[in-house]
Amino acid sequence: MLSLGIEGTAHTLGIGIIDDKGKILSDVKSSFFPPKGIHPREAAEHHAQMAPKLLKDALKTAKINPKDIDIISFSQGPGLPPCLRITATFARALSLKLKKPLVGVNHCISHIDIAKLMTESCDPIVLYVSGGNSQVIGKTCGKYRVFGETLDIAIGNAIDKFARECNLGFPGGPIIEKLAKKGKYIELPYTVKGMDFSYSGLVTDIVRRHRQGAKLEDLSFSFQEHAFAMLTEVTERALAHTEKNEVLITGGVAANKRLGKMLSIMCKERGAKYFACPMQYAGDNGVMIAWSGILNKKKGKTTKIEDSRIRPKWRADDD
Ligand code: ATP
Ligand code: FE2
Repeated sequence: MLSLGIEGTAHTLGIGIIDDKGKILSDVKSSFFPPKGIHPREAAEHHAQMAPKLLKDALKTAKINPKDIDIISFSQGPGLPPCLRITATFARALSLKLKKPLVGVNHCISHIDIAKLMTESCDPIVLYVSGGNSQVIGKTCGKYRVFGETLDIAIGNAIDKFARECNLGFPGGPIIEKLAKKGKYIELPYTVKGMDFSYSGLVTDIVRRHRQGAKLEDLSFSFQEHAFAMLTEVTERALAHTEKNEVLITGGVAANKRLGKMLSIMCKERGAKYFACPMQYAGDNGVMIAWSGILNKKKGKTTKIEDSRIRPKWRADDD
């Protein structure tokens, strides 16, 4: 079985093709990163313009004809409505033209599915940290549950906001990680409430200190220490609560070495295994959607055209 997957929840339009054994035939993408931040309608316009070319590229890389595809998978939510609408329309059109079933996929669960395929992990507590999402997720009684999440902005968004407000450029993650290497510790707000956490107070404090002349190296180092300790604390609590013994990190922020280090130390101390999704598949991509499509199809879950409307607020625990 061959699945073509279309991802388009935010900045990135990606098309991937994978077979039911997990062999990747193509993985093409185009990202839209305007200097002043994302405007949903402009990103949607980018996706609409790029979709036909990416489809052609994906088929060419896979060396297949459109009729070889068995299912059309697409990210149905969560995400930015204008972007989701373009993706869904493109997927519906392909499904109708090729007369192949449509499979609507939850973007967050898809990150977990591909991370599991790429690692040896079986039943992990997942830390999904990206520009738009920050959640600690695990499966209990056959259902994904969100054990902890951000109460306001996502970690990646907090990092990018810090970088933007301090004129460091975009995306902020790699820049702040580099600056942090030369920084010293400053005490900053640390907000964990039960199993949830919050970043807006931390960013506000950073920006205030920057204006008062604090060194960017110190702010970067201290931001990472606080923000990542919050994630590590909640992940550890989810491990203890569920008695699981695996942690799996994914999402764009998984690129950060300091976060990886903190999590692996915590896992070592608890006797748990630590897994990280390879970065090529940790950010948004079409392959992950294609793979979740295969898993859904195997469970008999396909999506009728009339049920394929976008789900901008679709949660991983509402599948
Ligand atoms: P989603 O739609 O799942 O929310 P996204 O569109 O935000 O995803 P990703 O590629 O998953 O895209 O994540 C991008 C985020 O990762 C950005 O906020 C960026 O600053 C952050 N990031 C990238 N590299 C690093 C790094 N080395 N350290 C910390 N953060 C990083
Ligand atoms: Fe994502």
